[in-house]
Amino acid sequence: MDEQVIQKTILSGIQPTGQLTIGNYIGAMKNFVRLQNDYETLYMVVDLHALTVPQDPKELRHKTLSVIAQYISVGLDPEKNNLFIQSHVTGHTELTWILGCLTGLGDLNRMTQFKDKSSKPGANINAGLYTYPILMASDILLYNADFVPVGEDQKQHVELTRDIAMKFNYRYSDTFTIPEPIIPKSGARIMDLQNPLAKMSKSDSGESGRLALIDEPSVIAKKIKSAVTDSGSEIKFSEDEEKAGIRNLLTIYSNLTELSIADIELKYKSRGYGDFKKDLADIVVEKLSPIKLKHDDLMKNKDYLESVLKSGAESAQKKAWKMLGKVYRKIGLVQAAR
Ligand code: TYM
Repeated sequence: MDEQVIQKTILSGIQPTGQLTIGNYIGAMKNFVRLQNDYETLYMVVDLHALTVPQDPKELRHKTLSVIAQYISVGLDPEKNNLFIQSHVTGHTELTWILGCLTGLGDLNRMTQFKDKSSKPGANINAGLYTYPILMASDILLYNADFVPVGEDQKQHVELTRDIAMKFNYRYSDTFTIPEPIIPKSGARIMDLQNPLAKMSKSDSGESGRLALIDEPSVIAKKIKSAVTDSGSEIKFSEDEEKAGIRNLLTIYSNLTELSIADIELKYKSRGYGDFKKDLADIVVEKLSPIKLKHDDLMKNKDYLESVLKSGAESAQKKAWKMLGKVYRKIGLVQAAR
C-alpha cells in the first residue's frame, strides 16, 4: 500500500543588516544545512525586518543578494530548499496586521531584544522595531512551520509566536501549527571576540569583534589572534565570567571540528593560548575560505541568483496565498471576486 509521507516544515530567516557572522553560521545556518534533506524547508532573507534600522538602499539591495549567495555557499541546495526574499511574497505584512490586532502591548514590552535595542543611547526607536516580533510571527505562521532553527536570542520571539498562534486558534478554531524552536545545545550564543560578555552581532559588534563568513583569510587570522582571553594560560572550558573569552573560542573550535570540548582540552593540555589560537585560525580559515570563494563567484552570476529567487518566491507565494485566504475567511473578511 502506498503510504503518503507528510513532511514537516522548517522555516527560518536572517536579516541582511551586515556581514553574516560565524555566530549566524553556528547558531542557525549549520542547522539549516543539516535539516535540508528531511523536511520541507523555507529559508528567507528578511529584508523587511532590516528596515527597522535605517538602511542605505543600494547597500541593502547588495546585502540581501549577498545573504542569498551565502545561503547557497554554506551548502543549502536551491533545488531542495525554498530560498527567497521576504518582500517578494505578499502575505507577510498582511498577516502582521491581523496578528497585531491579537497581540497585547504587554507582550511586546517584555521582548528583551526590543528593550536592549531601545535602551541604547541615541537609539532610533520606531514603531517597526517595536512590532517586529509580530512580523516574525507572521513569517513563521504564514507557512505553518513546525520547527524554527534559530540561535538563543530568537527563542523569546518564537515563544511569542506560539502564544499568538494559540490565541488565534482559540478564538477562530484550529488554524495555525504551533511552532517549536530548534536551538543548538552548543553555540547558540557566540560571543564578540573583543567583548566576550556581549553577543557577536553583524550590526552591533565592532569590526574586530566579529568574524564574517566572507572575511579574507588574513583578516580572520588577525581577529582570532587578537581575541580577548584572560591572564591565565590553561585551555579549559569554565563558566567563570573571566573565562568567557576562552570559553567562546573553545565553542567555535568544537562546532567547526565536531570535536568535543573534552577532546580539545586534552589536545591542548600542556599548550598555551597562542598555540590554540593559531590552530583555531587555521580551522576557521579552512572552513570559511570555500564559502567566501563560492559567494564571490555567485555574486558575479546575478542571473542565476535571480532564477533561484524566482522559483523560491513562486513556491512560497502559493503557500502564502493559501494560508492568507484561510485566515481571511476565518476572521470574517469578505472574499474578493477574482
Ligand atoms: P538575525 O538576522 O539577527 O540572526 C540570524 C540567525 O542567527 C542567529 N544568531 C546567532 N546565533 C548564535 N550566536 C550569535 N552570536 C548569533 N547572532 C545571531 C539568530 O538567533 C538567528 O537565528 N528576527 C530574526 C530573523 C527572522 C526570523 C524569522 C528567524 C525574521 N523572521 C522567522 C526565524 C523565523 C533575526 O533578526 O535574526
